[in-house]
Order: sequence, then structure tokens, then C-alpha cells
Amino acid sequence: MKAIILKRYGGVDQLQLTEVPKPSIKPNELLISVKAVNIASGDYKINTLNVNVLLKPILRLVFGLFRPRQQIRGITASGVIAQLGSKVTNHLVGDEVYFINSMGAGCLADYVKLKDTAVMVKKPANISFIEAAPIAFGAMSALHFINDKTIHKDQNVLIYGASGSVGSYALQIAKYYGAKVTAVSSQKNHQALLGLGADQVIDYKKTDISTLDFKYDLIFDAVGKIKKKHVKHLLSETGKFYSILLPTKEDKQRLIVLNQMIEAGKLKTLLDGKYNINQYKTAHQKVYDGHKVGNVVIEWV
Ligand SMILES: NC(=O)c1ccc[n+]([C@@H]2O[C@H](COP(=O)([O-])OP(=O)(O)OC[C@H]3O[C@@H](n4cnc5c(N)ncnc54)[C@H](OP(=O)(O)O)[C@@H]3O)[C@@H](O)[C@H]2O)c1
Repeated sequence: MKAIILKRYGGVDQLQLTEVPKPSIKPNELLISVKAVNIASGDYKINTLNVNVLLKPILRLVFGLFRPRQQIRGITASGVIAQLGSKVTNHLVGDEVYFINSMGAGCLADYVKLKDTAVMVKKPANISFIEAAPIAFGAMSALHFINDKTIHKDQNVLIYGASGSVGSYALQIAKYYGAKVTAVSSQKNHQALLGLGADQVIDYKKTDISTLDFKYDLIFDAVGKIKKKHVKHLLSETGKFYSILLPTKEDKQRLIVLNQMIEAGKLKTLLDGKYNINQYKTAHQKVYDGHKVGNVVIEWV
């Protein structure tokens, strides 16, 4: 089968489209025929090890010393269940699904195998495979911070870095829960963010947000670029500050909540671009550059 492998940690020159054996599955595993693969900022960090000095040795221990033990990369994707292991009872062949497989990866291939306990749900019928592929990365991470426990109707929320994957979903999730959302991004992305429901937009290149004269109930830094001490005077008395740099949890239950929003037409995937398999280096470079708008997805046909 076709697969994109990472020969060694590094830039896009270390990626290669090649032929590899199709995976065989154990009784508690299932095989997915991949339809679309999300290239995430998380892939960038694992593939390049371009992370802070403390995290680097941890990633090497977890994923492999000099190159990832699983050379087929791609942590989030969508597809169709092609085969079930003999002990799998909770899925059907032909189910359309989307999922995250950060520890096992392997999504950049014709087929990926997953455990029956994988963080995976059925794809709602009202979105395409391309739109579904990034949900278990950006939207699931956003829901960790923006949810019915952290915000309430009519509260004021500021999303910093709203044009990224996490940020564009966070904005919509905040709107879903009835918040008034100020979205911070560069001006070129304002139209897209207003289209996703932002009430107000601010250009981070022109306005230093620490100079704003307003109080927010929640400030969410969706790109990990600001510190609480710079914005804490903008928080209301009970206001909260969250940064995407805090750890999040991968949880299937969250995908079920996100599916309700998708089915209600309230959560859409902002696409920077759709790429074909042969454009895999361009797609990865777009992500590695750190300025994509929403999500970069490879259509796997
Ligand atoms: N903790 C976790 O579990 C977890 C989960 C998911 C993601 N993350 C991390 O969260 C971060 C964001 O992920 P992502 O996938 O959403 O990123 P992303 O999509 O790659 O972010 C790209 C966006 O960030 C904007 N941006 C870049 N620098 C900015 C700045 N200084 N101020 C405001 N906006 C800026 C860019 O807009 P411009 O072109 O206008 O600059 C671009 O639209 C990454 O570091 C990722 O590794 C952590």
C-alpha cells in the first residue's frame, strides 16, 4: 500500500512517499481505509522535534530515539472501516469514522489499524471526510478548555490565535455555548473568523491586546504565544486564563459532544487548503511554517 514515512526526525525532506506492506490486525483491532489525513501542528512537533529542550528527550523516549518507531506518520484522519478483528463488536464494516491515533500514528497510508478502544467516532453525514479529518485534533483540544463547565451564555471570551486549528474550533465552540467572542488574528483572516461567528475581531499585528480596555470572563490562548501575566488585568473578577500549552486529554466522549455540534450545523472545519497525496511535502511545509489558516488536509485517493 502507499504510505508517507518519516526517515529521520527533521524537515519535509525527511518525508517520503513509498510502498509498505498493508497492516494485519489482531482480534481486538480494526482496519480503516483512509480517506483524508489532517496534517496537524502536533505532527510538526513529533516529526521535527522542534520543541523545548525539556520536551525533546521525552518525545524521543516515547516515539523513538533517532527516528519514530512508527515511521508512517499522521495522527488524525477519517476513513471507512474495512475490516474488523474477530473480537470487535462495537463497530461495523462500512462505518464512516474519524479519529486520532497519536501514540500509534500511521494515518498517512491507504490503511491504518486501530484498537477497538481508539478515540474514534462515526463521521456525521453532513460533513465530508476532509472536513472530519482535523476534528479529533483541533476541535477536541479546544473543547478541553472551552466547554459548558468553563463558559456560560453571554459571557465575554477572547480567543487569541483564533485563525489556527484549535482557535477556529474554539471560537465556534464558545459561540455554541452562547458566549460573545472576540477573535484575535492577523487582519487577513478576519473575514473568515467573522464567517465562523466572531462578534469582534482584533489584529494582533496592529493592537497589543494588553492595552485593551475591556474585561473578559475567559481568555484562551489557542496558539501558546501569550502569558497570563500580560493579560490578567483584562480578566473579570472570576475570569479564567487558559493556554493551549497546558496538557489536554484525548477522550472519545468529547468527540460525541462535538458530533452534536456538527450535526446541528454549529461546528465547521476551516480549511487552509486541500492537498492530494503527491503534494504531501507542500502540505507539511504549510503546517511547519506556523501560519496556516485553520486546517491542512490531504485527500487520500
Ligand atoms: N496541549 C495540547 O494537547 C495541544 C493540542 C493541540 C495543539 N497544541 C498546540 O497548540 C498550538 C496551536 O495549535 P494549532 O494546530 O491550532 O496551530 P496552527 O493551526 O498551526 O496555528 C497557526 C495559526 O496561528 C496564528 N499565529 C501564529 N503566530 C501568532 C501570534 N503570535 N499571534 C496570534 N496568532 C498567531 C497564525 O496566524 P498568522 O498567519 O496571522 O500569524 C495561524 O493562523 C501548537 O503549538 C500546538 O502544538 C497543544
